[in-house]
Parts: sequence; structure tokens; C-alpha cells
Amino acid sequence: MNKNRRSFVKKIGLALVVSPVASVLAKNNTVRSNNVNKPVVISTWNHGLDANAAAWEILKNNGSAVDAVEAGVRVPESDPNNTSVGLGGFPDRDGNVTLDACIMDQHQNCGSVAFLQGIQNPISVARLVMDKTPHVMLVGAGAKSFALKNGFKHENLLTDKAKKAWQEWVKKSKYQPIINVENHDTIGMLALDQNGNLSGACTTSGAAFKMNGRVGDSPIIGAGLYVDNEVGAATATGLGELVMKTVGSHLVVELMRQGLSPNEACKKAVERIAEKLDDYKKYQVGFLALNKKGECGSYCIQKGFNYAWKDEKNEKLVDAEYWVK
Ligand code: GLY
Repeated sequence: MNKNRRSFVKKIGLALVVSPVASVLAKNNTVRSNNVNKPVVISTWNHGLDANAAAWEILKNNGSAVDAVEAGVRVPESDPNNTSVGLGGFPDRDGNVTLDACIMDQHQNCGSVAFLQGIQNPISVARLVMDKTPHVMLVGAGAKSFALKNGFKHENLLTDKAKKAWQEWVKKSKYQPIINVENHDTIGMLALDQNGNLSGACTTSGAAFKMNGRVGDSPIIGAGLYVDNEVGAATATGLGELVMKTVGSHLVVELMRQGLSPNEACKKAVERIAEKLDDYKKYQVGFLALNKKGECGSYCIQKGFNYAWKDEKNEKLVDAEYWVK
């Protein structure tokens, strides 16, 4: 080996020791890494920070991505002050808190619940649907009865805070989704574990003051969440109707399969909404994606969507790029 090559190899070796995961935040907010960046967990909005911390406890101890995402999103589900997920979620226009959630693992297994009432952690019911039934989705009374039979406890999920907000809303009874309301919404979480496996979870109380019986994108595999362990994973937040009409998360994963970065794929999915849906400017949708290399990206319709990112070196919020300037 000549001297120049030796010194080059030495420098590279040193760089690998000092920085086993050389990741940088590129201009377009895509996190690019020279090596596979794992483990890593990302999730939507500010509430993703605490959720990621819980998921990280599992990932750092060589736990599985699916266990990590379930544990992670249970945190905002159980937070009574979080008005868009689980306990304390804003009710529908008749005062009922109805919850939607789904989970997907590296083997294409998935579980989902929709229109579930009285159970604080719908994600764990979805996990049980995935693990213990031949089905993908249980809804309403059937989902509730399945949960109760499996040891989940019924509780009143309508907190005083949410009840007050609903009583205020009832005075005018005007249904109009508010963009980035309270800077949080659905939590969607994606993780890549130390074994290089991907999983995702998504959970919400849905659009505040929705019609009774309305189900959004969050429990719909392919809309609110999609995972393909060969390619990547994606999740969505914002007004579910727009995501369902374009099967957003599946689209993002398929675009990554075609070679797009997570950031580029999320941007294309937002472009699809803008092309197809006339009134998209009135609403917010944000996509979040993670690929097999541990690169992440996001894109949204309106300014204001952010995501929480945690890996060995980072624990922070990243603002998503947006379409409507
Ligand atoms: N993205 C949550 C919902 O629309 O229900």
C-alpha cells in the first residue's frame, strides 16, 4: 500500500471510529447517512419528543421496532393534556371520544382498530388484533368487546378540558378543521431497530368535532401508515380525508421503492394531493418517511408541521418543508 493510500485508509478508519454513523441534515431536510443509521425513531409533531424517548428505551436495548413504536405512541395516548390522541382527545360533535389506531411490523403483519371508545391505549388493542387474530381490523363495539375480553379496562376518556372545548364548540356547531390546531394532531411513529427492521404505529382521536361514526386515515393501512421492510415506512398526519383519497403512506413507500429519498417521496405525495384535490389549500396534511438506511424526511401542505427525530446523536424537532408558500 503506498503512503497516500495508507494515510487515506487511516483517516477513513479514524472517521469511522469517531463517527460510526456519519449523518448530516442535507439542504432539503433529508437526513442522509453514509452508513445505515440505526437505531432511529421519528414521529409527528412536538408530542413526538416524549414518545420517541419511550421508544428509544426499547431500541437502545436491542428491542424490536414494533415494540418500540407501540411503547412510544402509548405516551401521548395516556397524556390527558393531549387533545388529539387517546385519553383527553377532543370528542365528536355528540360528545363521544372515538379512537383510531394501527400498527405494522417488518413481516407485513398489521393490526388496526377504529371507532373504539372507552379504551385509553388503542394502539395496544391494534397490536393484539395483529398478534392474536386472523384479521387486520376491528371496529366499534366489536373492537371494544375484544379489548375488554383481553384485559383492557373501560374508562371515561372525556376529560374536563375536552368537555369544555366541546361545549364551547356546540354553541356554534360549525365544523371547520383548523390547520395545525395546537401544533399537534395524530401521532405517527416510524422506527428502524438495531437489526435493521422497520415498523410503524399511528394513533389519534381523529378530527375534533367530527360526525359521529367518522373514521379517518390513521387506522387505514396504506393511508395513515405503511411499512415495507425492504424499502421503508411512512405515516401521515393532518386531515385524514385528503390522505385517504390519495392512499398517502403507501404512495410514499412506493415512491421510495422507485429510488426517491424519504423527503422527495413525501413531497411527491403532497404534490399528488395538490394535483387531485381542489380545496387542499384549506387543510393541512404532513407526511413522514424513513427508509432502510435510516434516512428520514417529511413534507406538508402548510407551514407548521414538524417531527421529532431521535437516534444515537440527535434528539430534536425538525420543521418540515411545505407546499403552500
Ligand atoms: N389524521 C387524523 C384524522 O384525520 O383522523
